[in-house]
Amino acid sequence: MAPTPTLPAFDLVIFGATGDLAKRKLLPALFQRFIAGQVDSASRIIGSARDTLGSDGFRERVSAAITADAQGQSLEGFLSLVDYVAVDVSSESGWSDLKNRLQQFPDRVRIFYLAIGPALFARACQRIHDYGLDGPSSRVVVEKPIGHDLLSAQDINATLAKVFSEAQTYRIDHYLGKESVQNLLALRFGNALFEPLWNAARIDHVQITVAEELGVAGRAGYYDTAGALRDMVQNHLLQLLCFVAMEPPHSMNADVVRDEKLKVMRSLKPMSAEDVRQYTVRGQYRRGNLGDGSVPGYCEELGAESSRTETFVAMRAEIANWRWAGVPFYLRTGKRLPQRVSEIVVSFQPVRHSMFGPAAGPMTPNKLIIRLQPDEGVHLGLMIKEPGPGGLRLRSTALNMSFADTFAGSRQPEAYERLLMDVVRGNPTLFMRRDEVEAAWAWVDPILKAWAADPEPPKPYTAGTWGPSAAIALVERDGRTWHEELEHYS
Ligand code: BG6
Repeated sequence: MAPTPTLPAFDLVIFGATGDLAKRKLLPALFQRFIAGQVDSASRIIGSARDTLGSDGFRERVSAAITADAQGQSLEGFLSLVDYVAVDVSSESGWSDLKNRLQQFPDRVRIFYLAIGPALFARACQRIHDYGLDGPSSRVVVEKPIGHDLLSAQDINATLAKVFSEAQTYRIDHYLGKESVQNLLALRFGNALFEPLWNAARIDHVQITVAEELGVAGRAGYYDTAGALRDMVQNHLLQLLCFVAMEPPHSMNADVVRDEKLKVMRSLKPMSAEDVRQYTVRGQYRRGNLGDGSVPGYCEELGAESSRTETFVAMRAEIANWRWAGVPFYLRTGKRLPQRVSEIVVSFQPVRHSMFGPAAGPMTPNKLIIRLQPDEGVHLGLMIKEPGPGGLRLRSTALNMSFADTFAGSRQPEAYERLLMDVVRGNPTLFMRRDEVEAAWAWVDPILKAWAADPEPPKPYTAGTWGPSAAIALVERDGRTWHEELEHYS
């Protein structure tokens, strides 16, 4: 992997530092960047929450969060960057201490990571400002979901904008930090091969699947207020769709790239209530077998009699612009599906005329399969001749490229590693701009409304299956099928 230059020392304040996100993602990612030499050892990582832990107490937690990959020496070094200030975002408690701490380096890049509920954003931002902690070199970071509909997203964005300019605001969609997602840009725009074929004249349809084996145990409280459309489609899947469908940006400048994504969001064909009925499927998992045994159903995990929250969505979206008009984009995501897999499948038009005759067997249209996780790679489905005499039979096979083989020995960094360092560097290319987030909600809102008005609950599906049968019918009605496992391509 290319060497990573050390970035100038920075101060990062994590509000909500005792929470799950800090523990599972942020601190391990910072540690990895530290051992990679990217984090200057004069930088400070200041945890902040209501608990009166003290710096040593917090360091113990940090070391527990990263011991899995820590080597003694480096861990010691990393912990020397870590500090803690007890702050209550909802009151004045602790803010003067935080101010004293930050004042030591007034000119540094100063990052406020709001790993707290959106209901607290306004109070946090206001106090950051009232205590004079913000300035030209400060930045704020927030996580998806930004709101639960267009109105609430606009509210959150307006709240942040009272204190931080758009250029200082970093909205994380961690999918954009995944290597394989960035590789989509390289694949599309670093190769001359695909672009001439990348349009409605050559592409029959596109499928985007993000399937998970996990259920919602441990976060059912949040999940039940969100559901798969808000949790996954409004952000991750639509971001992937934008990367697939956008026009070539003329440079990697953050706003140039985000302008092109925004155009795609705004070209998504709005869905009427009737379209929602026809082109979307909601599901909710019931108890079933997955992996080594039986797993509980969604309501069992939630501890509720019933719920109208969807844990699965399949839909047929269309992009109403010159390049894509008429090409269906089938999106699918769900919990408790048979395997964890995220992939984008671009299916090309069939050959216009087959000279081979029926004895050669069926002709499978070419497919470009971009596997995002696990086993990241790119596969191109082609027709070839089966070996041997006795007539000419064709069969579909694939050119396979696996990242693990191509980059054997190099470590795949976690999404947060890249994203956190981009905040330090001041590069917002892989973060969602305000207008993008709002455009995504503007498209999703009518779907949410139509579902809310529908007396039918989500369709049940058994854990360990690919969702309700209606999701299969959704593509089969169009004479197509969901792309199946890669096995016959490997
Ligand atoms: C999060 C969602 O944004 O993404 C989770 O809130 C989901 O529900 C997760 O499990 C999936 O991320 P990944 O990186 O495991 O594909």
